[in-house]
Formats: sequence, C-alpha cells, structure tokens
Amino acid sequence: MEIPATRLPTPHIQSPLPGPQAEAWLEREHAWVSQNYVKDYPLVVDRGEGMTLTDVDGNRFLDFAAGIAVCATGHCHPRVVDAICQQAERLLHLCAIDFSYPQVVDLAERLARLAPGLGSKKVYFANSGAEAIETAIKLARLRTGRQKVVAFFGAFHGRTMGAVSLTASKAVQRRGYGPLLPEVHHTHYATCYRCPVGREPRTCELECLELLEKTLFASTAPPEEIAAIVVEPDLGEGGYFPPKQGFLERLAILAREYGILLVADEVQTGFGRTGKLFACEHFGLEPDILVLGKGIASGMPLSAVVAKAEVMQWRSGGHGSTFGGNPVCCEAAMATLDLLEEGLTDNAAEIGGYLMLELKRLMSRHEQIGDVRGLGLMQAVDLVKDSTTRQPDHDLLAEVLLRAFERGLVLLGCGDSSLRIAPPLIVGQSEVDRAVSILDEVLTSLRPRGC
Ligand SMILES: Cc1ncc(COP(=O)(O)O)c(C=O)c1O
Repeated sequence: MEIPATRLPTPHIQSPLPGPQAEAWLEREHAWVSQNYVKDYPLVVDRGEGMTLTDVDGNRFLDFAAGIAVCATGHCHPRVVDAICQQAERLLHLCAIDFSYPQVVDLAERLARLAPGLGSKKVYFANSGAEAIETAIKLARLRTGRQKVVAFFGAFHGRTMGAVSLTASKAVQRRGYGPLLPEVHHTHYATCYRCPVGREPRTCELECLELLEKTLFASTAPPEEIAAIVVEPDLGEGGYFPPKQGFLERLAILAREYGILLVADEVQTGFGRTGKLFACEHFGLEPDILVLGKGIASGMPLSAVVAKAEVMQWRSGGHGSTFGGNPVCCEAAMATLDLLEEGLTDNAAEIGGYLMLELKRLMSRHEQIGDVRGLGLMQAVDLVKDSTTRQPDHDLLAEVLLRAFERGLVLLGCGDSSLRIAPPLIVGQSEVDRAVSILDEVLTSLRPRGC
C-alpha cells in the first residue's frame, strides 16, 4: 500500500529540478498552453496532500503558497473530497438561475448569517473572484443609479474588463487593454508600512482620506455620483499591506455620509486566512457588499457576493451565471466552513502569530529583509537592497523563490519584491520552523560578500 505523503519527510528532493518527467511536461506546456504568465520556477505537480505537493518525478515540496491562498484546508482534505464525491454522485449541475436545489440555499443561508453586520443579507454565487467583482460593480450601479466607482492604488480585483479597471497593482495587468471601464477613479490606501502620502504614521490615514475627500470628491468624482468604493481590507497581490488602524472605519463613515456603497473585496483575505473568518472583523467593518472567492471552497471554483438584502435587488433576469453555485462546489464550501469553524480559523490566528515572531527573528538576522508584516496566515517579507533605504530588490526576490524551490519550499511573490507567505490554514509550528529554516539557508547563501 502506498504511504500517504503526509507521513513522509517533506521536503524531499530526489531528482535534479526540473526532473526528467517535469522537463517533458514543461516542453509540451510551452508548445500548447498560452504563455501569459512567467512562472517563478519549474514545478509540475502530480498530487497534493495536506501541506505536501509531490511533483511528477516524486519530489516532495512543502507548500507555503496554497495555490495562491486558495487551498485553505490543505490539499485534498478528506472531508472536502468526501463532500465533493458524495455530491458528484447525486447531481453535478443544474443551473441555479433557472432551477432550485438545496446546496445553494444551505450555503447562502450560512454565509448570510456569518457575514459581518446585523440585518438580513442575500447571496449571489459566481465562479471566480473577478466575476464576483463584476457582480458587485453592476449591483452598485443598478442600486444607486450612479456610475462612478472608486478603488485604490495597489489594489487587485481581477482581470476581466470591469475588475481590471479597478485593479491598480501592476501596470502590466492593465497595459494594452484600454479603453477600460470609464468612471473608475483611484485614490490612496493608508497603510502603516509605505504610506504613499504622508510618511508620518500617525496622520497618514487622515491624509489618505483627505485626499479622497478634498481632492477626488472635490474635483473629478463628486460623491453624489459615486456608486461604490471597492476596497480590500488588507491589500493582497499589491504586497500584503494591512490598512492603518482607523482608515477603513473612517472610510465606511465617509461612504455612508454620501450614500456610497462600500464593497469589501475579501477574495484573498476571506475564509479564515487572516485569523478571523472575514478580515472586515479586524476593523469592525460592515460592508454593504462583501465579495468572496479563492479559499471559499478549498480549491473548487466558487465565488460569492453577500449583500444587504435591500442592496441585493436586481431586475428580473438582469444578472446570472451558468455555473455559479454549482452543487459540488457548494458542498465543498460547506465542508470548508465546517473545518474553519471546528478550529482552522483559530489555527490561522495562532500559527500566524508564531509565524510572525519567527519571520521577525529571521529579519533580525538578515539585512536583505526590509519588513515583515501581515495578519494571520497572510504575511509578507520584503526583500530589499539594504535595510536602510529599503529599496525593493526584484532580482533577490526571483533568486529567493528559485532557491527555496530547489530546497523544497513552495512560495510566491507579491507587491514590489515581497515573499507572499500564505500556507494552507492547517499549517503547524513544525512546518513553519522548516520553512523559516529554509529561508534562513537561502538568504545566508545569497548574502552579499563581507556581510
Ligand atoms: C483581492 C482579490 N480580488 C479579486 C481577485 C480575482 O480573483 P480570480 O482570479 O478568481 O478572478 C483576486 C485574485 O487574486 C484577489 O486577490
């Protein structure tokens, strides 16, 4: 009988990387698959179990990326797989816009009850984060009769035409696709770490809000024309920057004052990742529209928009999706929710705290680390040219990702030059220790001579 990878020592590298099987697959991938993304390293995965990825050559990797913060319950959690298999035998698809089935109702009720804020809510299901963002834009315009939408520099909301119009993380994500959605305005996101306006942490959230109110509202985007402000309660792809305390709270007050709908994009932060079920809970934020995706169904394609009942009002036939709320995905989401409620969200908070301490210790040993920050299991390690100027070091990021991979640790980047640390929420202390010690080795091997 095959021993499960979760019981074998990981990482374990037994072939050159890429191995012969991986090399053959990569060659075929290059020939047949759209090359729209440059991958950081040549990993070709055969299977995933818990925290372990096994490649096609039998090498085992420790996964600290979770399929970009998606595989919340680890790879192929038996309870999630069980829920998927059982549902797959009963009903694969029906189309929730034309017919009814229990899974959509059950999941909608659970999400509506759990979402921040009192008052009744309703849920719309889609397939991806971007599609859910499109839904939020359409809903906000429909409900307010206004056209303008405000988003933030550094934000990532997806790549469909509406969503990419809000995205302002990296120019390459927008370049060449214009004209994008009109009436989208960007403003500054207040974070303690790299305030784009005032460098004074005590006042930066006020300055960012002042820029919104006194510059944007007073010039190109009068507030009575704004349908929605769309905000990530912790900047994700833009660099894992939690907001300055007070910023989101004041933003919500401002939105309410002008009848603007506040949309919280929790596609990456949601479902336990930050140590609370929703990141909004860290800031007492009660959005009018909450957008969920990624980890909601542990890897199955599902996203959701949860809105106040008075906001979730459409013209009959005015919006829909063939696959949104697929019954198999809904069952995977309910199994995920069960696991989060049984302890995984608490684990994210507890192990997140431990991870932060260990990463800070790593920073004290390595000049190449300019900052460590984050919430729960959504943490960033900035790689910099030197710790005084903190200039981002893109080459160092690429090198660290590659060398970590060669030692069996799977990581991704985010922002300018940050390591994105987003393991499955099942991660334990021993895996954190292993990952940090690999990073320690890698950074030591890359230390400039004389240091
Ligand atoms: C905050 C946020 N919103 C939206 C999206 C888009 O999600 P998807 O790639 O599923 O369309 C992402 C994806 O990274 C995201 O991080």
